[in-house]
Amino acid sequence: MSGYLVEDTRKVTTHRLREMKQQGKKIAMLTSYDYTMAKLVDEAGVDVILIGDSASNVMQGNSTTVPFTLDEMIIYGRSVVRAVKRSLVVCDMPFGTYQVNCTEGVKNAIRIMQETGCDCLKLEGGEEIIDTVKKILSAGIPVMGHLGLTPQSINKFGTFAVRAREESEAKKLVNDAHLLEEAGCCAIVLEKIPAVLAARVASELKIPIIGIGAGHEVDGQVLVIDDMLGMDLSFSPKFLRRYANLSEVITTAVGQYVADVKSVSFPNDSEQY
Ligand code: KIV
Repeated sequence: MSGYLVEDTRKVTTHRLREMKQQGKKIAMLTSYDYTMAKLVDEAGVDVILIGDSASNVMQGNSTTVPFTLDEMIIYGRSVVRAVKRSLVVCDMPFGTYQVNCTEGVKNAIRIMQETGCDCLKLEGGEEIIDTVKKILSAGIPVMGHLGLTPQSINKFGTFAVRAREESEAKKLVNDAHLLEEAGCCAIVLEKIPAVLAARVASELKIPIIGIGAGHEVDGQVLVIDDMLGMDLSFSPKFLRRYANLSEVITTAVGQYVADVKSVSFPNDSEQY
């Protein structure tokens, strides 16, 4: 494959993620929601691309992921999968598509796999969804877990604050992580929890633990692409590192375009037929 920033251009598999943990190699994961961005992210060497339901926030302007639907996820998912050659592509199961019962969960999981062509699904929750996770796995679909701040439950939490600071919630999280591993999940995302707790889970489990706001003693990191590229400077949680200021780059470029059109300096003689 040409144009890749990494030497190892083999397709990343769930098996490879496990190997990376065993070899102490960190896993880099980012979200993407469209063809053009996913192609760039894949070529830059990201190991896992997540078609996150954070699309609800950053692509649609909703304040939570709750309104995001299965049909919408499939549209974003297809676009991403068409672009990616190397990264493992994981797709979020949207809110309401797996919480009702196992049968509906498996049906919706199969629909996402068939209609997007992604490699793996991510579900939020532990013990309360473990039967559905097992059924999806037994249908031959790889599953990634997601514990800690699980945004689909924001209306229950009532806040985006750090989770599992208290002993009882931390205990449940550790238990949930073990249940997900025993069920056969390929990895778990831990979102916005104390770094010490995330480190404990990563050391107890054999499957990779991927953190977001969970410190560095885990097996990999994930960020929302729009956040790390600085597309919206008003969102600045403590855990976020910005690698670019694209909001400034884009508004400057668009402002220049507007000025050029108004002053008739675009198009010039060489930009016409
Ligand atoms: O939807 C999403 O982007 C996510 C990540 C924050 C892990 O679930």
